[in-house]
Amino acid sequence: MSQVARAPGRVNLIGDHTDYTGGLVLPMAIDRHTTIVFERSNDVSAISSNFGGEVRFGLPVADAPAVQPAWGRYIAGVAAAMSERHMALCGFTGTIATDVPIGGGLSSSAALEVAAALALGIDADVATIAAVCRRAEHLATNVPCGIMDQLTSVAGMKDHALLIDCHSLDVTPIRIPESLAVWVVEISSRTLDGSEYPTRVAQCVAAEREIGPLRLADLQSANQIADPVVRARARHVVTENERVRHFVAALTTSDFREAGHLMGESHASLRNDFATSTTAMDAAVEHYSQVPGVHGVRMTGGGFGGCIVVLADDDAAIVGMRVHAADGASLTTPLS
Ligand code: GLA
Repeated sequence: MSQVARAPGRVNLIGDHTDYTGGLVLPMAIDRHTTIVFERSNDVSAISSNFGGEVRFGLPVADAPAVQPAWGRYIAGVAAAMSERHMALCGFTGTIATDVPIGGGLSSSAALEVAAALALGIDADVATIAAVCRRAEHLATNVPCGIMDQLTSVAGMKDHALLIDCHSLDVTPIRIPESLAVWVVEISSRTLDGSEYPTRVAQCVAAEREIGPLRLADLQSANQIADPVVRARARHVVTENERVRHFVAALTTSDFREAGHLMGESHASLRNDFATSTTAMDAAVEHYSQVPGVHGVRMTGGGFGGCIVVLADDDAAIVGMRVHAADGASLTTPLS
């Protein structure tokens, strides 16, 4: 009997490069998904409708980072991460398909990991599933990502963004006002593998060595950091956490002008202090912030390319992908 594991991508409204210091983020799962249609078997074998090749490995998986083709490493990484936690593994034979743009900064890899975890029979709470999938990303790509993408893909809620405290892993749904449209505009396809993402993580570690946890730090202590680059990185994280708090308040009171203003400040901070934007992303943010009906625009996700997110009135003329907040991952058995 075939089953379907389905997991959404995500877009982050505000709060980037804060998750790996236990800070605040406000993403939403989107109505774009990765699906694995599968039958139970002893080993894992899967083909992808989007990429060539077939991935095959036995359970437990021996060397996840060496699995071929490369997209199969996300699945093998999940199997390895489940084994590390002594979780029971179920094999499957399946076909993977996705309409999450690949490498667009919309968490296509997290969607694959979460769908794979369900196909591998994971039986755990939301935060544990997300932690296993985060570990899988580390194993598959060596990118030391935070937990935002995987947790959003698991915990998404229709019509809501998720305020996530990445230290406690508390998830608070925040309703997105009906009159607001969320658009994603893809600027360039890229992967964080080989990017400066690990350097940013290391710079935050250096800042914390000097002033303690950034999630608890204030601007005054961030500004006392000796090294100017590390100081700028810390300043971004501290101010971004504050912006997430204010953005949630603005969204809750439908103060779209303030929400948009905070998105602009977030983009400027990611550009100037965190250096994760690109010239093309800056130009697109500048362009869309002039379009009538647009409240706010910023780069979203890890950066170094990828997407910008636009918050606008329902009838604003945006050329991009309109997304809606969606429920998190699911496992279903279709009626035959
Ligand atoms: C990538 C990572 C996340 C997060 C964002 C930046 O998407 O996977 O953990 O760090 O970048 O906010």
